[in-house]
Amino acid sequence: MTDVAVLVGSLRRDSINRKLALALGKLAAPRLDFRLVDLSDVPMYNDDLLPDAPEPVLRMKRQIEAADAVLFVTPEYNRSFPAVLKNAIDWGTRPYGRNSFSAKPGGLVGTSPGPTGAAAGQNHLKSVLNVVDVVLMGQPEVYLTWKPEDFGEDGRIVNDHTRAFLERYVDRFVKWIERTSEPKTSAQA
Ligand code: FNR
Repeated sequence: MTDVAVLVGSLRRDSINRKLALALGKLAAPRLDFRLVDLSDVPMYNDDLLPDAPEPVLRMKRQIEAADAVLFVTPEYNRSFPAVLKNAIDWGTRPYGRNSFSAKPGGLVGTSPGPTGAAAGQNHLKSVLNVVDVVLMGQPEVYLTWKPEDFGEDGRIVNDHTRAFLERYVDRFVKWIERTSEPKTSAQA
């Protein structure tokens, strides 16, 4: 089983981005095992905390490092991505030389109720992910305009067109992970 650490940029209980992440996870199983990383108790980045990093930070870093790939699912806030994700990324890259994201195959999707489907937010995030050494899949892009009626009570996708679109994403992501994964060392396997 291929483990994917999923970082959702919203802490909101009814987050549409978390719903999108869960729906993608259902499409991806059993090929990929999506594990949502809890970012709700990760404090704001502070260099002074590094020598004795808080447990939520260590837990987050362990989860990312243990995963075969990372998936970012982001809302758009003011034409960028939310601070929750930037904070997680900043912690993830520290201490210097211990970047939890290094060489991880990665994906990026997002949704908003607006017509551009979080495109501007994703594009800001893309530039950061490239800098932190995530091996990011460029295509296909998922700029999803959220329509509640496309998703059923159980979180499954009930709109055939949307399901086919997201299935295509998952299929490509599975192949991307296979193609770009670095062989694990015996200590990691
Ligand atoms: C938003 N929203 C928003 N939507 C959008 O399409 N473009 C934008 O620039 C913004 N800006 C923005 C700023 C802030 C501070 C908030 C709180 C919201 C609306 C946003 O897409 C909507 O609230 C989504 O529901 C957020 O995603 P989650 O939290 O439901 O996953």
